[in-house]
Amino acid sequence: MRIRKINLAGYRGVRGPIEIPCGPAFTVISGRNGSGKSSICDSLEFVLTGTLQRYQEESERGERISDYLWWRGKPAVPNHSVVLEFEERDGTTFTLGRVQDSDGKTGQIDRLCYRNVAPPDWVNQLCLTTIIRDETIAKLSTDQPERERYEFVLQAIGLASSVAVESNTSEITKYLNAIEAEARTIYDQRRQAVESLTFELSRARISATKASEESITRLRQLYRQELENPLADLSDLTKTIAQRIAHERTRIEALTKLKSKKDALDEEIQRLNSSDHQEQIRSLEFQRDQMHKNLEATKERLDALKRARTGQEAAAPTLTSLALIREHGGKVGLQGGKCPLCGSAVSAGNFDAHLKLLDETVHQGSETLAGLVREENEVKRQYESGRMELDTLSAAVVEARNHGETLDKQMKALEKEAQQIGARVDVASLSLEVSRASENIVSLNEDLTVVEAYAAIHRVTELSESLKGAQQSALSAEKQLSTVIRARTTTQEVADAAKRVSNEIVRERLAFLKPLFLELCDRIRPHSEWPEIDFLLRGDVRPFLSFMIGESMNPRFVFSSGQRRALGLAFLLAVHLSRGWCRLETLILDDPVQHVDDYRALHLVETLAGLRMLGRQIICTVEDPALADLLCRRLRSSAREPGIRVDLGYEPGEGVQVETRRIIPEFRAAFLAAD
Ligand SMILES: Nc1ncnc2c1ncn2[C@@H]1O[C@H](COP(=O)(O)OP(=O)(O)OP(=O)(O)O)[C@@H](O)[C@H]1O
Ligand SMILES: [Mg+2]
Repeated sequence: MRIRKINLAGYRGVRGPIEIPCGPAFTVISGRNGSGKSSICDSLEFVLTGTLQRYQEESERGERISDYLWWRGKPAVPNHSVVLEFEERDGTTFTLGRVQDSDGKTGQIDRLCYRNVAPPDWVNQLCLTTIIRDETIAKLSTDQPERERYEFVLQAIGLASSVAVESNTSEITKYLNAIEAEARTIYDQRRQAVESLTFELSRARISATKASEESITRLRQLYRQELENPLADLSDLTKTIAQRIAHERTRIEALTKLKSKKDALDEEIQRLNSSDHQEQIRSLEFQRDQMHKNLEATKERLDALKRARTGQEAAAPTLTSLALIREHGGKVGLQGGKCPLCGSAVSAGNFDAHLKLLDETVHQGSETLAGLVREENEVKRQYESGRMELDTLSAAVVEARNHGETLDKQMKALEKEAQQIGARVDVASLSLEVSRASENIVSLNEDLTVVEAYAAIHRVTELSESLKGAQQSALSAEKQLSTVIRARTTTQEVADAAKRVSNEIVRERLAFLKPLFLELCDRIRPHSEWPEIDFLLRGDVRPFLSFMIGESMNPRFVFSSGQRRALGLAFLLAVHLSRGWCRLETLILDDPVQHVDDYRALHLVETLAGLRMLGRQIICTVEDPALADLLCRRLRSSAREPGIRVDLGYEPGEGVQVETRRIIPEFRAAFLAAD
């Protein structure tokens, strides 16, 4: 299948409408920069995918390639469309196209490949391997990481499905592993249930041997009074016995408490009646009486002091008058040898002696009063503290005497307490009661064991049934587990086989591609120093594809950018030729000689001529008209399969224009021969 023509209107740089006829043999398009070469080469990808992958990741100021797929120049055009017409080998034709705002469906797109052998994303692979562009040559070959290069070749030549089998089986193995873990957990749980039921059953069997119908009848009789319902079931009987056990325990607790209280009380009474304690009381009474006597003596002394002080206070006005007279006499002095107070004649010496005597009398009087006040205060303090001490001693004596009565009261309260639980306040009888209650508990527990054992008879039947069920479900879990294990083992075998087979297929197909690649390298000659270029498949688990020159050197780091492009071109052409799944026999090259020197350009022309001989339809754009002419001469055409030469131009406001269009007739070498 080939491309017959390309019709463009309002698309990219084409205002149009224009038509590019494609020769069945080749179409060589020439034009300067910006004349529309790439727009034409891109049209196939745009029709198939609705976008241009190489711009896909770019976005600027919120705009994307989708905003520039249609003509944006002035003046605008009413119609936007891209339509490609294809021709089958039998001459039938069909078209694939896109118009602006179309629903994205592109008609009979599946006719371009053999669906059953095509890779899952064959449309993408078709675009990548049909349209060879300067931008993608190095990116898809030398500059691509080795692992991705391997994946790309696998996808492009249509071997992805064998890899898919491999990855599918590994997915299934993963899934089965998870199921196996789950089945194993279920199996373990069920086995555990069987084990614990077996244990329970054997315990119930042992218990069951300890009980009989008669023993239960006896117990029903024994607890008749406590059982609310005479026909009560076993659980009621268990409850009743358990209640009695609890009752006996409470009683033991109360008796023990009572006994310890009684012990403490007895000890206290004994202490009270001891001679030591009596002696203590007597000594307290003696101290109290002594204190009483002392206090009375102090009181008498205090009264005497009070009286003396009152007497002294009564003499105070006289002393005050004497002090005033003394002061007056001292100030006035002798008046003509006479005393200023009484007017009697007195010598100066006698007068001074009299004044001194008055001073002493006043001083003595006030000293005596102050001494009496001090002494009275001191004795008063002694009296007060003595009284407090006496009160304390009297209270201690009263308390010691009354303690016996308190103990009597406590004993009476204890007796009442004992009465309430039907006991006597007697240490020996309390001990007896405690040991009786303990014995009761022992016998009640025995009764309880009998009831539980009797219940175990019924439980044995129940447990036997449950065990049977658990064994069956463990068996089914075991079966399920072994089925899953079998499935996992089988899948693993299949996975191993798939991996083996897929590796073999991949290696086989690459072995097929290799001579093609070597041949193309030989024709294009990327590097004159290293004419031998090889590629190797390495690694079994995660294989990768590496290029090699000389003795294991990587051309990626040795070749110049032009040399890398030439090598990449050879590689992409080899991949293109190895696509077994593609029905479209067209190879589109968008200016493949960019950054390639004339020497290599000539080699490329020869290589394309070779591809043409293999029956490829070649659409190639170039900038140089001379190179376009050379291509037209070297690419073989025939009368049935002619080639076409198109020259493009660009008119401002009009966009891309087809300037000339001519059919290239068959080139006959004989024309060159001399007559
Ligand atoms: N959406 C658009 N609207 C209007 N003009 C556009 C649009 N997209 C691209 N163009 C113009 O279309 C013209 C053709 O571009 P194209 O890339 O096809 O040229 P080319 O021949 O491949 O050039 P080169 O040799 O530089 O690669 C250019 O002048 C470009 O500016
Ligand atoms: Mg271009």
